[in-house]
Amino acid sequence: MYFPRDLGHNARRYANVHGQGSETMDICRIGLIGAGNVGHRHAQVLRSFPDVHLAGITDVIPQAAKALADEVGCRPYPGIGELLAAGVDAVYVCVPPFAHGPPEHAVLAARLPLFVEKPLAATAETAEHVGAQVAAAGVLTAVGHHWRYLEVVERARRLLDGRAVRLVGGAWLDKVPPVGWWPVRDRSGGPVIEQAAHVLDLARLLAGEVAEVFAMGDGQPPAVPGADVDGVTTATLRFRSGALGTLSTTCLLGWKQRAGLELIAEGLWLSVGEGRLVIREGSADPVEEAVTADPAAARVAVDRAFVDAVRGIGNDVRVPYPEALRTHRLACALAASAATGQPVRPP
Ligand SMILES: NC(=O)c1ccc[n+]([C@@H]2O[C@H](COP(=O)([O-])OP(=O)(O)OC[C@H]3O[C@@H](n4cnc5c(N)ncnc54)[C@H](O)[C@@H]3O)[C@@H](O)[C@H]2O)c1
Repeated sequence: MYFPRDLGHNARRYANVHGQGSETMDICRIGLIGAGNVGHRHAQVLRSFPDVHLAGITDVIPQAAKALADEVGCRPYPGIGELLAAGVDAVYVCVPPFAHGPPEHAVLAARLPLFVEKPLAATAETAEHVGAQVAAAGVLTAVGHHWRYLEVVERARRLLDGRAVRLVGGAWLDKVPPVGWWPVRDRSGGPVIEQAAHVLDLARLLAGEVAEVFAMGDGQPPAVPGADVDGVTTATLRFRSGALGTLSTTCLLGWKQRAGLELIAEGLWLSVGEGRLVIREGSADPVEEAVTADPAAARVAVDRAFVDAVRGIGNDVRVPYPEALRTHRLACALAASAATGQPVRPP
C-alpha cells in the first residue's frame, strides 16, 4: 500500500538545480525509470536517505514498476510523461543500454537533474546525441561509475601522483550476466561497452586519455540463447602519455574471476578493482600491502553525492555525463576496432 508522504507543509526551499544560486532544498523528490536490478539497488539506497522522497517508478513492464514501487513504498506510473508530471526534482535512468535516448530526452526536455547508469548507451551515436542535449540543457548530471567513490581508488590516485604510469593491464573476466539483453550486441553494445566501462573509466582516471586502440574479438559467442557477442576480446591501448596498455574481457566463465586494473610505474605495481587494492613497492624484495575495498559504501556514495548536488548542499559528483562520455567514446573505439580489424583513435 502506498502512503504518500505529506510534502505540502514541508518547507521546501527550491535550489537552483542547475548549480547556480545559493538556496537549498530540504527534501529531494526522485523519480526512477527502469525497475530492474540496478533500479532496485538505487531505490533501496535512495529510500534510506532521510532527505529523499522516492516520488515514483516507471518501467515498460508495468508489473516490474509496481513490484518495486510496492517494495519501496512509492507509486508506480504507466509512463515517463506521467512520472515527470507527478512532480520530481531529479530522475534516475536505469534502463538497459539499447533503451537509452528517449528517457534522457524526456528528462532533459523538462530541464531536470539526471542520473544515468553506465554504459551511456549501446552505441556512440545515442550517447553523443544525449551529450549534446545535456550541454544545451545545462542541468546537473551524474553517471553510475561508482568505482570512482572507492577509497582504494583514491589511494591509488595518491600513490601515482607525480609518477608516470608506464603499463596498464585491464581485465574483466566474468560470466554472462543473467539478463536476456546482455549477450546480444545491438542490445548491450557487447562486453567492452557494457561491462569493461568501469575498468576503462578507471584507466582514464589513473593513466590519462587514450590516443589509439587496436582490438580483436574472437567471433565465438558464449553458449547462451541468442548470443552474438564475442566470448573473448583483447586489445592494446596507447595512452597520450606514452604508456601502453591492454584490455582483456571474457564472459565464458561461470563466476566472476577478476575485474580491475594493474598499473606499473617505475618501482611500483598496483592492482586495483572494486574488491581490493594491492600495492608492491621496493626493489628485489618488494613490500606488499593489500587493502580491502568497500564497494557497498561506494554504491551509496555515488547516490549521496548526486542528491547533495541536487539539493545544493554538495559538489562531489565525480562523473557527470560529459566525463562518462569520454569513457564511452573509448569503449566504442575498442568495439569499432574489433569490428573493423583496424586501429581506431577515440574522438
Ligand atoms: N553501476 C553498476 O554497478 C551497475 C550494476 C548493474 C547494472 N548496471 C547497469 O544498469 C543497466 C541496467 O541493468 P539491469 O541489470 O538493471 O537490467 P534489467 O534488465 O534488470 O533492468 C532494466 C529495466 O529497465 C526496463 N526498461 C527497459 N526499457 C525501458 C524504458 N524505455 N523505460 C522504462 N523502463 C525500461 C526493463 O523493463 C527492466 O525492468 C545496464 O546498463 C547495466 O550495465 C550498472
